[in-house]
Amino acid sequence: MQSTASDTKKRLLSGVKPTGRPHVGNYFGAMKQFVDLQEKYETFVMIADLHALNFIQNKDEMKTLTHELVLDYLAIGLDPKKITLFKQSSVPAHTSLTWIFDTLVTVPFMMRAHAYKDAIAKDLEPSMGLFNYPVLMASDILLYDPEIVPVGKDQKQHIEYARDIALKFNNQYEELFKLPEELIVADVETVPGTDGQKMSKSYGNTVPLFGTDEEITKAVMSITTDSKGKDEEKNPDDMVLYQIHKLFNSSEELRSQYTKGLGYGDAKKMLIKDIIDFVTPMRERRKKYEDDPKLVEEILLQGAIKANDVAMKKLQAVYGAVGLTS
Ligand code: ADP
Ligand code: TRP
Repeated sequence: MQSTASDTKKRLLSGVKPTGRPHVGNYFGAMKQFVDLQEKYETFVMIADLHALNFIQNKDEMKTLTHELVLDYLAIGLDPKKITLFKQSSVPAHTSLTWIFDTLVTVPFMMRAHAYKDAIAKDLEPSMGLFNYPVLMASDILLYDPEIVPVGKDQKQHIEYARDIALKFNNQYEELFKLPEELIVADVETVPGTDGQKMSKSYGNTVPLFGTDEEITKAVMSITTDSKGKDEEKNPDDMVLYQIHKLFNSSEELRSQYTKGLGYGDAKKMLIKDIIDFVTPMRERRKKYEDDPKLVEEILLQGAIKANDVAMKKLQAVYGAVGLTS
């Protein structure tokens, strides 16, 4: 039989939750890698809607955010002819495998998860969904045997959980799972937000990727700066503004302008222009898909078929290995 590209290519899998508009941190930290690597790897990209249910508990909001994220993925340049784009909830094997893993992992092991510990530290009562989040994410990954999982640094622990869970299963039953590796790009592992903390939807410090010009301007104008005057020598790497700006313009020239004390007002104007120029072709692509909901539906349908095909085979092997089927 003739070998096809997907027989020889290594596999990549990742996903983002549809919990709000993607921001510059999501794009550079994770989503850009999916686009950059889609030729080299057989790429599976998920809309992690089951994970999002932990945060979005309103039908209309969930539908809108899910649709928006699909448009965002397509807008940044993921090519539906090359990759498999699918909704996590379209592939029931993710939750089925989660149950099998749930019977293997222990409660104390799960209590070490950052997200769970954070919730407890804030005196919140975490749902079972939040507690089980890393197990579902392990299933998302392990069903597809990916070689790499591109994510931002905050997801590192989740990939470690996936490896630990795979090992546990492989030791208890049989070697069914490949141990996945995270791909974290050092320069962009934690993109700072407008206030200098990690940029995050939950901190209200984001620069939206697909905001209007006004929204982008407002976000950039709110980026924190120190009180050093214009023309004073500065180290660009200490400046949140430059750390964000260099994502859009990594030239030595810009760096040297910052070093020489480029005024913050001027720098912000340049950054606004650089962001808008950067996203303009993406906005155009987004519009094309926005105007063609049937095409988007078809892309997700094809993605679901392909993902189910791969995931079901693995789930069947798991059912066999644990003795649920002969
Ligand atoms: P948020 O923290 O804004 O809710 P998500 O949890 O939805 O973001 O993250 C989606 C992807 O983007 C993950 O791979 C995550 O690691 C990455 N990511 C999120 N924020 C950043 C950031 N500030 N810098 C780098 N990567 C990030
Ligand atoms: N937990 C990831 C996030 O918050 C999203 C996600 C769900 C994911 N399943 C995944 C990422 C599988 C990589 C692989 O961003």
